[in-house]
Amino acid sequence: MEKQDKIYVAGHGGMVGSALVRKLKKEGYENIIVRTHKELDLSCQEAVEQFFAEEKPDYVFLAAAKVGGIHANEAAPADFLRINVQIEMNVMWAAYKNHVKKLCFIGSGSIYPVNCPQPMKEEYLLSGPFERKNEGYGIAKMVGTKMCEYLNRQYGTDFIAAAICNIYGPGDNYSPESSHVVPALVRKFHEGKIQNKEKVTLYGTGTAVRSFLYADDVADACYFLMEHYSGDACINVGHEKGISIGELGKIIKEITGFEGEIAYDSHYPDGSPEIRLDTSRLSSMGWKPVYGLRDGLKRTYEDYLDKETATRL
Ligand SMILES: NC(=O)c1ccc[n+]([C@@H]2O[C@H](COP(=O)([O-])OP(=O)(O)OC[C@H]3O[C@@H](n4cnc5c(N)ncnc54)[C@H](OP(=O)(O)O)[C@@H]3O)[C@@H](O)[C@H]2O)c1
Repeated sequence: MEKQDKIYVAGHGGMVGSALVRKLKKEGYENIIVRTHKELDLSCQEAVEQFFAEEKPDYVFLAAAKVGGIHANEAAPADFLRINVQIEMNVMWAAYKNHVKKLCFIGSGSIYPVNCPQPMKEEYLLSGPFERKNEGYGIAKMVGTKMCEYLNRQYGTDFIAAAICNIYGPGDNYSPESSHVVPALVRKFHEGKIQNKEKVTLYGTGTAVRSFLYADDVADACYFLMEHYSGDACINVGHEKGISIGELGKIIKEITGFEGEIAYDSHYPDGSPEIRLDTSRLSSMGWKPVYGLRDGLKRTYEDYLDKETATRL
């Protein structure tokens, strides 16, 4: 990418999209174009076609999606499938028709089969059924991943897809209804501290292992792939180290300053005992994350406090 190239970041208001804009600005790109969801509904084909025909971006980062935690996914599989497939098809097709030089699709680790051997290697994709609870979202993200490959194969585009592990960081969604595990725990422990609770209860046994990547590292990795990778195979982006939910809880408890106990409610399912991406392909290209988990979690808590203060003012 040249510094004067026109770069469209779809979903710039979200956690990953805003990190991508920060990264691009830091690298000296000034011709970044963005639209809010209100200005441009990416699920509307006509509006997307008009936008691309008018703006003619050179490069696209597709970070817009309907995203939510496990409960939101389980409750609305049709919406997660429909809206995400619409966004992907509209943006990718318009990008191809308008000669976008390269597109990076921000995909997800949810495309891997349930009970996949760990850590999950790119070649395990489509080797088994999807996790049922977020099947609609997982299938939609697989469709986007495959569409990059098919457009490259059929029309010679240069579209790449990244399968990303759990992401956390500034701009995360802290809502009790639809948040992922890190923002949910940040909120729980903070509220536990403010309300002087004796204990905070985590769902499940706390033994399940997951891996987490800070949003600015995700943006850095996607930028790296845009600059250094072309190919049909999707690339895993994650942290090679996993951590149990119990250990994660202990770190967040310490960071928030909650002084009570951590309890576990094992009536809630743990999900798969371990979900971790094998990141050896990406690391062999020369990329590695910058932020350690504790540092990233401290920054996330600061972001939570800023947002909380802003809503109270
Ligand atoms: N969060 C994770 O743990 C995680 C893990 C792996 C992969 N990913 C992927 O990373 C990408 C970004 O996720 P995120 O966590 O940054 O999500 P996010 O914070 O919810 O951001 C998504 C952005 O997309 C926008 N958007 C949604 N529907 C839209 C539509 N129809 N038209 C235009 N804009 C729309 C949202 O705008 P509004 O808020 O105004 O609707 C928001 O700005 C997604 O593709 C997601 O699948 C996320």
